[in-house]
This record gives sequence, structure tokens and C-alpha cells, in this order.
Amino acid sequence: MNSNGKLAEILAQYSFERGNLVPILQNVQEVFGYISRDTVGEIANHVNVSCSDIYGVATFYTMFRFKPVGRKHINVCRGTACHVKDADQILDQVQRVLGINEGETSADGEYSLETVACIGCCALAPCMTINKDVHGRLTSKKALKILGTAVKEEE
Ligand code: FES
Repeated sequence: MNSNGKLAEILAQYSFERGNLVPILQNVQEVFGYISRDTVGEIANHVNVSCSDIYGVATFYTMFRFKPVGRKHINVCRGTACHVKDADQILDQVQRVLGINEGETSADGEYSLETVACIGCCALAPCMTINKDVHGRLTSKKALKILGTAVKEEE
């Protein structure tokens, strides 16, 4: 099924009410990985609001993304438990080796990098996730090894 078909399938699950906006956005992001400009227009028509209304709601909830993420979507935790265990150093190292900053995706679409306030695994601090996998008790070296960049780093 193409993306238009998938979107139509998602929208068909919801009645034409503004109150369905957040669940629709969640569902769309789960299926497509992000909310594209075209998708915003379709959703706006479905719930009868303007596109700017949708951007307003979606930017209020910081979980929504308007750009595609990399095949490896990395979230480095910057919560207190991770912060006191040098999460910033891990983030710096990951940014340097991947050549992208927080909030960016690599040009080849392989990596995207974000930070989060808490992954919910504070006992394993410092932590990061790659897609749905949690990696804990990180060191900079371990983080790079997990990302498959340790070899390049050491050359
Ligand atoms: S603060 Fe990092 S997992 Fe909770």
C-alpha cells in the first residue's frame, strides 16, 4: 500500500473532529516516522482546521517531528541521573563522530540525533536509545562501538 493509502487508512479510523487531532498525529508519526507537509494538509482537511492550527498543536507537543529521522534514530538522555554521569560528554562524542548536531539527520539518512529528558532507565545511567533499543551504563567508547563507529574513530 502506498503512503496515500496508508494515510487514508489512518484517517478512516477517526471521525471529523478536532479532538482527534493529537491521536491522528501520533498514529501518523508512528506509521511514517514523521509528519510531512503533505500529510498535514490531509489531516487539516479531515478534522476541518487550518494547517497552522495543526503546526501550533504539534509544536506544543514536542514529541512530534516534521522531518524524517535516520535509519538509526538516536536519543541521548540528558536527564539528571545521566547528566551527573557524563551524558554531555557522550553527546559531544556522538555529535563529533557522526558529524551532526542534536536535532539533525546525517546527509545519507543513516543517523538522526536528539536528546531527551529521561528515558526511564535511570539506574542504567548514562543511557541512550537507538530506535527502540535502550543502551545503558555508557561510556563514550561504548556508545561509539554500539553505533558501529568505533573502528572509524580509532583509525
Ligand atoms: S535521567 Fe537518563 S534515564 Fe533517567
